[in-house]
Amino acid sequence: MAMLEVSNLKVNYGMIQAIKGISFKVEEGEIIALIGANGAGKTTTLHTVSGLLKAREGSILFNGKELTKTQPHKIVEMGMAHVPEGRRIFQQLTVYENLILGAYTRSDKKEIAENLEMIYKRFPRLEERKKQIAGTLSGGEQQMLAMGRALMSNPKIVLMDEPSMGLSPLLVSEIFDIIQSINKSGTTVLLVEQNAKKALSIANRAYVLETGKIVLEGDAKELMNNDQIKKAYLGE
Ligand SMILES: Nc1ncnc2c1ncn2[C@@H]1O[C@H](COP(=O)(O)OP(=O)(O)OP(=O)(O)O)[C@@H](O)[C@H]1O
Ligand SMILES: [Mg+2]
Repeated sequence: MAMLEVSNLKVNYGMIQAIKGISFKVEEGEIIALIGANGAGKTTTLHTVSGLLKAREGSILFNGKELTKTQPHKIVEMGMAHVPEGRRIFQQLTVYENLILGAYTRSDKKEIAENLEMIYKRFPRLEERKKQIAGTLSGGEQQMLAMGRALMSNPKIVLMDEPSMGLSPLLVSEIFDIIQSINKSGTTVLLVEQNAKKALSIANRAYVLETGKIVLEGDAKELMNNDQIKKAYLGE
């Protein structure tokens, strides 16, 4: 059984069908990339998986449990975290306060403190800036904070929506290295990216979304050599 199994998912905004019956799965330990142009439905898909949007039809099984009728905070408790598009950190709060809020579904103080130490080890810049107001962090630091906050729920899987958006090439590489190391330490990753090249370079497998449909799927390395992908998404 796959860790996450999405079948025939359909999502509407009013009369408009944004997701038109997609199916994909994520096995434990994988990095799966979901790539596609602006408006393809990537964010809608992640929002529906993490319970922030309601599916019109279809099923989302997470370790065998149906998520389509589960509240978002329950989904977090079940072991799924979401790093949203645009980071959405609490601008007025400190780095530390943002991180602690990421553990809102947990109650064991000792475990939370250990988790915080682990995050500070992974993101030394967040530790240096723990008292800084989050809104004054640089774009890259805000992305690290958004990731750190998601990891404070100690997730089995983390959904990331365009983590490289708006970052300089050097920072993009740093963020992708961090995603790989989060994965190596045992967290499964579902990664949405417009930077297809980078995403495919770290993913095991990938799905290509076009106007609400999956048009291509396969091994990430193979997709990188696919002429259609090269032309449409890799600028080659
Ligand atoms: N709240 C909304 N109300 C109506 N339509 C919406 C809403 N949110 C998204 N859409 C539409 O649904 C489609 C999919 O949008 P979505 O944000 O999922 O795309 P995306 O692949 O994440 O794009 P991007 O790469 O620009 O982030 C688009 O046509 C968009 O205009
Ligand atoms: Mg999006």
